[in-house]
Amino acid sequence: MKVLVIGAGNMGLTYAEGMASSPILNRRKLMVYDVSPDKIISLKEMEIFDVHEKLEDALPTADVIFLAVKPFHSDELFERMKPMMNDEQIAVSLMAGVTIETIQEGLGIKKVIRTMPNLPAQVGKGVTSFTESKEVSRVELLMIRNLLDTTGESIHVENQNYIDASTGISGSGPAYVFYFMNSMLEAAKKMGFSDNDSRVLVSKTFEGAVELFNRNDLSPTLWMDRVASKGGTTRAALDSMDDNNVKELIKEAAYAAFNRAVELGEGE
Ligand SMILES: NC(=O)c1ccc[n+]([C@@H]2O[C@H](COP(=O)([O-])OP(=O)(O)OC[C@H]3O[C@@H](n4cnc5c(N)ncnc54)[C@H](OP(=O)(O)O)[C@@H]3O)[C@@H](O)[C@H]2O)c1
Repeated sequence: MKVLVIGAGNMGLTYAEGMASSPILNRRKLMVYDVSPDKIISLKEMEIFDVHEKLEDALPTADVIFLAVKPFHSDELFERMKPMMNDEQIAVSLMAGVTIETIQEGLGIKKVIRTMPNLPAQVGKGVTSFTESKEVSRVELLMIRNLLDTTGESIHVENQNYIDASTGISGSGPAYVFYFMNSMLEAAKKMGFSDNDSRVLVSKTFEGAVELFNRNDLSPTLWMDRVASKGGTTRAALDSMDDNNVKELIKEAAYAAFNRAVELGEGE
């Protein structure tokens, strides 16, 4: 199997590096192509990929093609790719809001896998949801899942609605966590902590809470009860959040991202 990653930006490079660090693919089997001459130079310096400056040299020999350009570049890219594609090739899209049907039509192929990755893939802790067109076989799907798992974990979903939904949870989700962290950092600094101490206090609090959460099946509500005692400090904070409807506002935010993903898919 030969894999080609098109677009070596944040996501494309992350997936290429993940695949390169796994035993699944050797250097000759992992090709990378990007339009930017500067990127080509730095990719070559990394010496871990088969780097291509010309799409014509790489695309016809690829079995699996990762599409990692920004969605607004997809039309011009598809136009260039289409004459070089064949029916057996599998396209794996990392692009937000570009539907399987659009990719099938744009590339003139049937086998398409659409994914929703997230940024922690950069540290091997990503979560990628994915779904496929009916022409992709179970064996092919398993093979692609193994590739996706080189950046963390993957979740197979039934249809594209769940891809849009996971945009609202895991795709955009890291930004919600950073938003929460930023608020806590601002509060810590206002209370008089130095920048560095604020950073340690907030970062370790998130890291420790997630580790506890992953240790067993306890729900977040039960964990909250373990921290909060009646009339105590944590209860005061949680009551303040409830009084301000924070829970509903966070759910609304996740739905805003979900709805935007649907809109983008409809070509808005
Ligand atoms: N970043 C995230 O957290 C995230 C999360 C989920 C999904 N995604 C999806 O991942 C995709 C890539 O996002 P990104 O943040 O990695 O973008 P990015 O950093 O801008 O990377 C895209 C790369 O593709 C290159 N490119 C543009 N047109 C090309 C073409 N026709 N052929 C080959 N290469 C081309 C770009 O070069 P230039 O810079 O010269 O244009 C750039 O190097 C997007 O579709 C996005 O929806 C991203």
